Amino acid sequence: MISKSLVFKILLLSGSLSFTWSHPQCTDFYPPFEDVNLQYCSQYQEFGCCVAERDAELQDLASSILSNFPEKVRGDCDNFVRDILCQECSPYAAHVFNMEDRSRADWSDFPGLCTEYCRNFHQTCDQLLPYLTRSQALLNASTESIDAFCDAQMIDDVDYCFPDILYDMDLNDQVRESQIGSSDDCLCLEEFANNLRNPLALTFASDSTHRIYVVEQTGVVTIFFRNGSYLHDPFLDIQDLVYVSSRTGDERGLLGLAFHPNYAENRKLYVHYTTSYEGTLYVRISELESFPNDTNRADARTERVLIQVEQPAGNHNGGSLFFDLEGYLLISLGDGGRAGDPFGEFGNGLNLKFFA
Ligand SMILES: *[C@@H]1O[C@H](CO)[C@@H](O)[C@H](O)[C@H]1NC(C)=O
Ligand SMILES: *[C@@H]1O[C@H](CO)[C@@H](O)[C@H](O)[C@H]1NC(C)=O
Ligand SMILES: *[C@@H]1O[C@H](CO)[C@@H](O)[C@H](O)[C@H]1NC(C)=O
Repeated sequence: MISKSLVFKILLLSGSLSFTWSHPQCTDFYPPFEDVNLQYCSQYQEFGCCVAERDAELQDLASSILSNFPEKVRGDCDNFVRDILCQECSPYAAHVFNMEDRSRADWSDFPGLCTEYCRNFHQTCDQLLPYLTRSQALLNASTESIDAFCDAQMIDDVDYCFPDILYDMDLNDQVRESQIGSSDDCLCLEEFANNLRNPLALTFASDSTHRIYVVEQTGVVTIFFRNGSYLHDPFLDIQDLVYVSSRTGDERGLLGLAFHPNYAENRKLYVHYTTSYEGTLYVRISELESFPNDTNRADARTERVLIQVEQPAGNHNGGSLFFDLEGYLLISLGDGGRAGDPFGEFGNGLNLKFFA
């Protein structure tokens, strides 16, 4: 199956881009926000990742955990429980739970505690752990020793461990900047669309409608609006012409889309896709028109093949299509492909013989 990916409002087209820069981020990967109605995790009400409803759930959870223990333990541990449960409300929750890298499978359900704090917690309240994590590895480490537990629960980036993170000047400055929001040097990511099948291109039609055309590798182009809604019927569906397998990493498919600079008048657009017949793979650059009576649909029957080039390998088939400022359509065909660049005396790329 081709993997599902997300499109963000700012430049994020690939599902594999990892979040390694340090910025405030919640466990759902959305930015933090303000909810002044937090009663329990009130420390994070100015800017954090919890809404009042979740805050109330956390408070209930804390009560039900503590109710299993005698009064002495309840008194000694209620602050620890609050600190630990409320970490999901921290503006750095994604980092505190080691979720920074989306591709990782081993997200922790337990926040990273700084060593000294961890030792204090464990000394006093280790019997609460089965209520605070489902990680068998952590529970095992906990029965082994304090050191084993505090090592096992440590997150990759110790700068984010609790409670030191509260006193980290740099990170606090970043929180303050994000909170202020719209300052010139603030860049915010917002999820724009999801459940797309390998979106490879995103473009506009320069027809002043601000519609956003998202190209999926399988051969489908969907129109999105700036408010995030989209048209259910695709703008273009040429899945029957496009050749691509469901193998992960297949580089073939519908690879590029460009609108004629004069699209508003002539309704012409151009696609670049791989196709196959009689066992041979080709890339094709075709011109299409959208329906005169419905600019939300391109008419696949108007296809005019401009160029068709045999491709010796299934990878490196180029794909980008752009109009330059002088009105030329720029096409990239790739370098022939296959491992080790075997085509041509000097390998594939920039072999001058190609230009002779
Ligand atoms: C935890 O310990 C049990 C019993 O010693 C063992 O069977 C299990 O594999 C351990 N689990 C992990 C995740 O380390
Ligand atoms: C989003 O924008 C489109 C185009 O302007 C409009 O038709 C649609 O009703 C809007 N949807 C919402 C939910 O605002
Ligand atoms: C546009 O015209 C085509 C025939 O060329 C027709 O099939 C289609 O239903 C029309 N669409 C609209 C929105 O009227």
